Amino acid sequence: MQVSVFVNKYFLVIMSTISLVAAIGRRGELGKGNQLLWHIPEDMKRFRFLTSGHSVIMGQKTYESIGRALPNRTNIIMTKDASFHAKGCIVMHSLEDVMKFIYENNPETEVFVIGGGMIYTLFLPFAKKLYITLVDAEFDADVFFPEYESMFILSHDEPHSDENFSYRFTEWKRKISDNA
Ligand SMILES: NC(=O)c1ccc[n+]([C@@H]2O[C@H](COP(=O)([O-])OP(=O)(O)OC[C@H]3O[C@@H](n4cnc5c(N)ncnc54)[C@H](OP(=O)(O)O)[C@@H]3O)[C@@H](O)[C@H]2O)c1
Repeated sequence: MQVSVFVNKYFLVIMSTISLVAAIGRRGELGKGNQLLWHIPEDMKRFRFLTSGHSVIMGQKTYESIGRALPNRTNIIMTKDASFHAKGCIVMHSLEDVMKFIYENNPETEVFVIGGGMIYTLFLPFAKKLYITLVDAEFDADVFFPEYESMFILSHDEPHSDENFSYRFTEWKRKISDNA
């Protein structure tokens, strides 16, 4: 199939550049009603620090919940809707289109997948690194992060708290055996 030929051709290059960045609750909760479940200013600051100057990939629903292009980043929005336009953003309609774009534009720069649930699930098999803020609480949610702990190893774990939540900035690297 054309997709698998394409993915095989660029697989190693692309895998070295794709990272996922997310904040999740104890059960992997991501959001509800197309909104985030918490407001953690330090986490927003970390998100800005990590992603500024890079390309960010998001689903159409996450874009709608943010409501604008994120400044100082190349915003890539994924949708199947051929008529969809978003000011200041690049719109792409398939995983293959995004892979080709990454390969042609950012082969050695980190590219960040920023959600939501559908898009994290789509890109997790290609991610080399995960930046996950683990929020130590349970939430009523309708979107969840996919299972990742069997494929990744914890490489960084930094505890934080504010007046509302305890949370940890964690980083995960893909296990070598899953890297081919
Ligand atoms: N906690 C966090 O770190 C975090 C981060 C980001 C988002 N969120 C939350 O996650 C929720 C949104 O997640 P979600 O899963 O509902 O939506 P999403 O992943 O943001 O977007 C889903 C949309 O992406 C498009 N899409 C999916 N697969 C595609 C493909 N293969 N090719 C082209 N387009 C594709 C489709 O758009 P069309 O239907 O237009 O075709 C689909 O409806 C919200 O609650 C948001 O607040 C949380």
